[in-house]
Amino acid sequence: MATHLITGAGSGIGAVVAQRLLERGDDIWLLARDARRATELRERFPGAQSLVGNLADPAKLAWAFGQQSLPVDLDSVLHIAGVVELGPIGDTPVKVWNETLAINLVAPAELTRLLLPQLRQSRGHVVFVNSGAGLSAHADWGSYAASKFGLRALADSLRAEEHGGGVRVTTVYPGRTATAMQLKVHQQEGKEYDPQAWIAPESVATAVLTALDLPRDAEITEITVRPGR
Ligand SMILES: NC(=O)c1ccc[n+]([C@@H]2O[C@H](COP(=O)([O-])OP(=O)(O)OC[C@H]3O[C@@H](n4cnc5c(N)ncnc54)[C@H](OP(=O)(O)O)[C@@H]3O)[C@@H](O)[C@H]2O)c1
Repeated sequence: MATHLITGAGSGIGAVVAQRLLERGDDIWLLARDARRATELRERFPGAQSLVGNLADPAKLAWAFGQQSLPVDLDSVLHIAGVVELGPIGDTPVKVWNETLAINLVAPAELTRLLLPQLRQSRGHVVFVNSGAGLSAHADWGSYAASKFGLRALADSLRAEEHGGGVRVTTVYPGRTATAMQLKVHQQEGKEYDPQAWIAPESVATAVLTALDLPRDAEITEITVRPGR
């Protein structure tokens, strides 16, 4: 039985990953932005433990973790939380840049740093849920794409640094996936939203678990998941 820390378990892809791991008997720790959300997550995923930390304020994560008990043994950290705000660079204020980079890039780096001792001990696994926007940047996707390009660099450097010690690092690049985030994207694009047209969050969760469950002689470094129709 393995122990996993998951961000973004309250919605979309992260919720499916959390449910699957819980159902198979693994221990899960869920990062919640505040105490109220932590209570909701523990009620939704009975048996799960919670950790409170707002990814929008990565500088405070170390302090916040200092006030709580952390998992002693940890086999994986699954970075799934993320935010998006569409808009041309010419109209994107600093607030959007700061929030997007904090939640999508700086917080995953800080969370990884804080949990690396446990991950090294277990020869564990770090999974970053990135995006197709982390591979190519299009008009109106600047701040999100920049955060995800950075997340790819974070994953690649971490893999190069920790590979010798047995820590595995995987980046998953999903295309458009039918979640609350995709509904918001459609609203911002002014398009009608049909969840059937996009990848089911269950399929992205399967990609995450496939990387986790690969036998230890191998490492899936990157997986790109595209809509199948
Ligand atoms: N949906 C897509 O089309 C798509 C495509 C490619 C990549 N992705 C990536 O996939 C990942 C999951 O996305 P999703 O579609 O499942 O999104 P989602 O349904 O909107 O879920 C996002 C999650 O991130 C958490 N989160 C946001 N801000 C946070 C903060 N400040 N502190 C703590 N947690 C915070 C949310 O917490 P609450 O539950 O508390 O709100 C929520 O659980 C993201 O990294 C996204 O960039 C999504």
